[in-house]
Amino acid sequence: MLIAYRCRVCGETYLGEEKPKDCPYCGADKIYLQQVEEYDRLKPDSISKKSEGNIRKAINLEIDNAKFYVCASKKTKDEKESAIFKRLAKIEAEHAEALAELLEIEEKDIPDYKECSEDAIENYQESHNREERAIGHYKKFATEAEEKDLEVFFNAIAKIESDHLELSESKLS
Ligand SMILES: [Fe+2]
Ligand SMILES: [Fe+2]
Repeated sequence: MLIAYRCRVCGETYLGEEKPKDCPYCGADKIYLQQVEEYDRLKPDSISKKSEGNIRKAINLEIDNAKFYVCASKKTKDEKESAIFKRLAKIEAEHAEALAELLEIEEKDIPDYKECSEDAIENYQESHNREERAIGHYKKFATEAEEKDLEVFFNAIAKIESDHLELSESKLS
């Protein structure tokens, strides 16, 4: 029987017979998936100015990374690697959307990224730099957040980006 699970990070709903290991949309660990009946989204009632600024920085970071992965998926010659970059682009776009929803704002559009490579390994090197940067920011934002939900949220996405870092490390080794 299908059960509806909803993600506390991105708000998307997954229909399945059991909980997946990670959210199929944003990549959050399954501990953030709840049955819809008991759903409690990670969304503070009010957000401090400091946190608002950090969320805006995070949105820009995510959109920029999403655009990089879109570029990488289009340019990378190797079809298997291109497919992986396409998935990463969607995950980062999902993060940007989830962050924008915290502030109830529209994501702003930024220009398309054009500097990526046709070579998968070069793109994984760039991916590695970007994920490392993102993790550093999110860990800092989590510590700075006075809102409990936001602290959990930033730690959840830092963990997802760590999984992406592991992926690039395995490709680069
Ligand atoms: Fe999610
Ligand atoms: Fe992300």
